[in-house]
Amino acid sequence: MGVARKFATIPGPRPLPILGNSWRFAIGQRPWRTRSLDATLWNLRALAGMGGAAKVAKLFGHPDLIFPFCADETAKIYRREDTMPHRAVAPCLRHYKQELRKEFFGDEPGLIGVHGTAWSTFRSKVSKALAAPQAAQVAVPSLDCVSNDFVHRMESILDHNRELPCDFLTELYKWALESVGAWALGTRLGCLKDNDTDAMEIINNIHGFFHSVPELELNLCLKRLTDKGVCAQIALNSGEKVATILALDLLLVGVDTTAAAAASTMYLLATNPRAQRRLQTELDINMPTDRSMNHRDLNNLPYLKACIKEALRIKPVILGNGRCIQSDAVIAGYEVPKGSHIVFPHYVMSNEERYFPSPNEYIPERWLRDDTNKAGTVIPNISNEKHIEAARSVCEHAGVASVVKKQRDIGIHPFASLPFGFGRRMCIGKRFAEAELQLLIARAFQKYNVSWYHGELTYSVTPTYIPNEPLRFRLDSRTKKLT
Ligand code: HEM
Repeated sequence: MGVARKFATIPGPRPLPILGNSWRFAIGQRPWRTRSLDATLWNLRALAGMGGAAKVAKLFGHPDLIFPFCADETAKIYRREDTMPHRAVAPCLRHYKQELRKEFFGDEPGLIGVHGTAWSTFRSKVSKALAAPQAAQVAVPSLDCVSNDFVHRMESILDHNRELPCDFLTELYKWALESVGAWALGTRLGCLKDNDTDAMEIINNIHGFFHSVPELELNLCLKRLTDKGVCAQIALNSGEKVATILALDLLLVGVDTTAAAAASTMYLLATNPRAQRRLQTELDINMPTDRSMNHRDLNNLPYLKACIKEALRIKPVILGNGRCIQSDAVIAGYEVPKGSHIVFPHYVMSNEERYFPSPNEYIPERWLRDDTNKAGTVIPNISNEKHIEAARSVCEHAGVASVVKKQRDIGIHPFASLPFGFGRRMCIGKRFAEAELQLLIARAFQKYNVSWYHGELTYSVTPTYIPNEPLRFRLDSRTKKLT
């Protein structure tokens, strides 16, 4: 291994004297806009070159940011992290918890915006109850009930063209809030009722984030904690205060994230009829419609899971995860001092040809095991069906098969698409979020053909990666079509 290059030589936008690089974001000229961090990341990727890293130095009040554009390097950094990984986000929340409301949070500050021993003690108290596979499994029937209610609500809000309303993203926020409430607090919050002003207030507060904390703290977590729900178990073992603070964190980060993921998955399925048809075939065969689903039912739906993974690859909800390194390191051949902030640009890596052939194409089959895939590439029995449709289907299958073969040949790098982060600090709600998404997508696509007639969606970072345009999906009832 050669001698590491100096930190100062990492490529990146040149800082000005005194103003550093902050002026770029202050002016907001593309690609240096906080709302278009996707473009910023691609620009840094170009500056970094193959397998390299880029740096954004001298931002006011911030250590230098290092962006390693390489899955092997990402693996090395994540794997060397110590027992207390430091993710430097939500400084306002840190300030709120540790300064403004120190008397309330004290030694139990929660997970978000918390570091060191305080974080690791809290995480060890709640980890088993939240992150173990059974934690999400037992919640599946009640989450299915929420999804079912939401699909009924979708029907009731369609316009005369059978399109969902312009504020459908807000409806998805309500679904996500209702789901977290059912899981964490063990109660139905009632967000899916018409004109639920409480739900809207909470959602607006979550968006307000900083202002939201006192409101959530008082309005919801303290008052609505029941003796069911995952937080109730925590209350039994670690006390009501830990449970309340945990509930606050779960609501803060568990609503916008899953709503954004649901929006992107619906959009990618609506614009890829082939994948939608294959999903519906799987649902028709394996999904119960006469009773609520349990976790075993979800295990029979591998294509559904692949559809969500593929959506999170193309449109990850969080574009880049971060770590503040606690000791000096060599990253992509450069010396990087302790205290630097590493931003893993997962969005770029999961959309690069070298990791995912034809990266812009939505091909859930990439994620299927070989045996499942072979079954899927068999062309359906279409002998009596329209021949044009059959020919199109053959071409589509050939295209998919060719991409899947390329993907098989290179394999999927385990660090190239990490929508939920990695290691001790990875998303504690991952299993719950996956189950919640699977249930909604399953129920919605089993009932409807979902189409999209409004051109390509554009996205902004807010800080989740969400569509700018109204989500006016068109829903046509599948059962009606068959009769
Ligand atoms: C598709 C949905 C979601 C995505 C993509 C997502 C993604 C992430 C990511 C990237 C992290 C940082 C992980 C790391 O540093 O390695 C994280 C942390 C976290 N997530 Fe999620 N998340 C989602 C849904 C949820 C839900 C539904 C909840 C709870 C109900 C949740 C609770 C948390 C918490 C509490 C943390 C902080 C963990 C810690 O610092 O110890 N997330 N999430």
